[in-house]
Amino acid sequence: MSKESSKSKQSTPRLAVVIMAAGKGTRLKSRRPKVLHEVGGKPLLSHVIAAAGRLAEPEDVYVIIGHQADSVRKAVAGTGVQFIEQKEQRGTGHAIQCARGAIAGYDHILVLSGDVPLIQAETLQHLMTLHLAEGAAMTILSAKPEDPTGYGRIVRRSPDRLEVEAIVEQNNLNPEQLSIGEINSGIYAFKVAPLLKNLDKLTDTNAHGEFYLTDMAAHLNAAGEKVVAIKAPDAVEVLGANTIAELVALDASLRAATANRLMAVGVTIFRPETCVIDAEVEIEPDTIIEPFVQLLGKTKIGTDCRIRSFSVIESCTLGNDVLILQSCVLAESAVADGARIGPFARLRPGSEIGQDAHVGNFVETKKAKLGKGAKANHLTYLGDTEVGAGSNIGAGVITCNYDGVHKYPTRIGQGAFVGSDTTLVAPIEIGDGAYIGAGSCITRDVPSGALAVGRSRQVTKQGWAVARRTRMEEQK
Ligand code: UD1
Ligand code: CA
Repeated sequence: MSKESSKSKQSTPRLAVVIMAAGKGTRLKSRRPKVLHEVGGKPLLSHVIAAAGRLAEPEDVYVIIGHQADSVRKAVAGTGVQFIEQKEQRGTGHAIQCARGAIAGYDHILVLSGDVPLIQAETLQHLMTLHLAEGAAMTILSAKPEDPTGYGRIVRRSPDRLEVEAIVEQNNLNPEQLSIGEINSGIYAFKVAPLLKNLDKLTDTNAHGEFYLTDMAAHLNAAGEKVVAIKAPDAVEVLGANTIAELVALDASLRAATANRLMAVGVTIFRPETCVIDAEVEIEPDTIIEPFVQLLGKTKIGTDCRIRSFSVIESCTLGNDVLILQSCVLAESAVADGARIGPFARLRPGSEIGQDAHVGNFVETKKAKLGKGAKANHLTYLGDTEVGAGSNIGAGVITCNYDGVHKYPTRIGQGAFVGSDTTLVAPIEIGDGAYIGAGSCITRDVPSGALAVGRSRQVTKQGWAVARRTRMEEQK
């Protein structure tokens, strides 16, 4: 829904999403800001922005940045979200105080944490629905994880009621509260008017000397406002990451979810725990992924393919029946039906491998188009090159596409045969059906159907080696 249409309807409350991402993440012991650490192949913050984007337009999503603000801003600027700077990071409550001006024009805000990346848009929608239905001033998303240690705890009025008395941080738990298993996810919906009215009641008189947003639960209660909490359907969704070990665990659970999604639609992934598959990868049924494969970015793979171990495929499109043998590296390239790649082949960006074509071991391509059934099976470099259908590129053929300043194209027609160890000095064209003698250095175009040999003629001296050996013996 566009901003205009949501504003024109009186009944639809104006909603902003505020993502707190200004903290340093001291416990990670890393120079990189915490929200830029990656799980599932992209920064924590990018996951949270993606979920936010399902509830609000980018211009209604505000990211609070502070620690290394510029690098955080740069990393996610492409999403079109708004930024608010929290120059000194004095706590989650202070972060929202910094957003005061931005949120004043909305009816409700949804507050997300930049370090809680697995949150699902459906859960957030559910949270908002309950928040509005209850007419609450604050609705907290809670969870019951296996181990609640380290999280703030939800103190309910009574166990069977929605109403919440307060949120108590780990450090402030009294002995009775230590046994509370319900935690604060760091995700909340607020009604803006009572929030702004009570926001200055926060103080920094606690162990960390920070303004805790969590204290708003008690302040709003004291002001006679309604504060409720609902549990997330799955505690895994709200797991935060405060240490590298926790980040790696989040990554593993994301990867496992991706592998399970693919297996559920008929893809076989052997030893999925050894594979690294990004969330946006798509694979058709009956394709087999062997152990230790990485499928990254927006890679798409057809049906009946087999990807053998140790291959890394990033943002590529593979047709059906494609065989990628062991240890291949493919990036931003396309491979058509029935083609066979590897082992140990490298397709660099812009390569297009035609139907049933073969690219064999130690072959590197860059912006190379191979036609149907073309073959380059051994030890070859094809850069800025077109190879016509059915042509054979012998072992050790090199296209010399670069003169140190410019790159030049090589065009090889259909059904041509380029003998082994040939160098093709671009720009150059080899016509259909032409034949190049092995070991040639080809610097001029070769017309269709011609033979070109560009090497010095062989000299053979009868008995020369025997005579030399005899001479050497005599000199001893
Ligand atoms: C917070 C909650 C805790 C909850 C947990 C869930 C508070 C006081 N505690 O604790 O109850 O169980 O999240 O994961 O809120 N941030 C800022 N500016 C700041 C401080 C933090 O933007 O000044 C951001 C951080 O970058 C982070 C988020 O707010 O993305 C949460 O801050 P963090 O310090 O990680 O809070 P926790 O100790 O995890
Ligand atoms: Ca945290």
